[in-house]
Amino acid sequence: MKKIGLLCSGGDAPGINCYIRWIINNAPNYDLDICLIEEGFKGLYENKFIKTDFQKIEYSYYNGGTIIKTSRFCEFKNKKIQEVCVNNLLANNIDTLIVVGGNGSYLAKNIIKNYNIRTIGIPETIDNNVENTNFSLGFMTAVETVANSIKALKESAESHGRCYIIEIMGDKSGDLTKIASISAKADICSTPEEKLSFEQITYKVLELISKGKKSIIIAITEKMHNSYEELINLIHNKTKLLVRPYILGFIQRGGSPTALERYFAANLALVTLKFIKNFKDSGDIGIEGINNYSITSNKNKQIINLKNSDFFDLIK
Ligand code: F6P
Repeated sequence: MKKIGLLCSGGDAPGINCYIRWIINNAPNYDLDICLIEEGFKGLYENKFIKTDFQKIEYSYYNGGTIIKTSRFCEFKNKKIQEVCVNNLLANNIDTLIVVGGNGSYLAKNIIKNYNIRTIGIPETIDNNVENTNFSLGFMTAVETVANSIKALKESAESHGRCYIIEIMGDKSGDLTKIASISAKADICSTPEEKLSFEQITYKVLELISKGKKSIIIAITEKMHNSYEELINLIHNKTKLLVRPYILGFIQRGGSPTALERYFAANLALVTLKFIKNFKDSGDIGIEGINNYSITSNKNKQIINLKNSDFFDLIK
């Protein structure tokens, strides 16, 4: 059986354990053996290949996080460290590496590719900002988590007649803020793509109050402001509303993956296996739609429309 390395890197997101479960379970049907590497590129550097614990993988299926751990490994920029990583792969008879991660992890993946290792990218981040895909693994669940948080904050804000500012992750992408805000009916939304100044936000608050609104939820993507102090004072001075900021934080990265997330994970695993088995190039697997996936290889994007027979492949 051909050995394939798999690691996840960067921020965790719900759905990684599902992807691992599906790929480990289905790999033997493609005559492939998936070798798990703990703690991302740091683990690869430290040669942390781990024994597959099938029971642990089954039990982790509905859980967030990643059973094979992840890391942000800035030292990877160092050429000597890259060479050790590549040598560790080759010493373990592995010339193909699956990297589950976001933008930063894809940069590291592309460096490994330059050492003639075949690489496969699996988009995974709550930020939904990975190249060559419409959606990344973990994003759907994070939308659910954030929307539920906004809904809960609304209940409190309405009870007290307050204004809450909720800061949402996403790095430079406003997808998570925008979709969760619409879904949970936040009153005002500011994202990197549609950034509102504090004056504009305050103006909108005043408009809403003039229309009879007694409580306000303002959703803002992280990293756009150093502090909300000025905004809090502006709104409070003009409306007398009590204004409280709320940084949602890392709970956005956790939680049980939604059913749709698990479905995406299964199909990403299926497309990965078919791609490794039938082609020779490196490539990034993408989620285009519920039943449509893609493989981007050498800048060419090939759309894979999954058929019923593919689903039976998964569960055979
Ligand atoms: O993984 C994505 C993300 O959660 C971003 O939304 C956030 O900006 C960043 O990671 C936080 O990174 P760290 O886990 O290193 O604090």
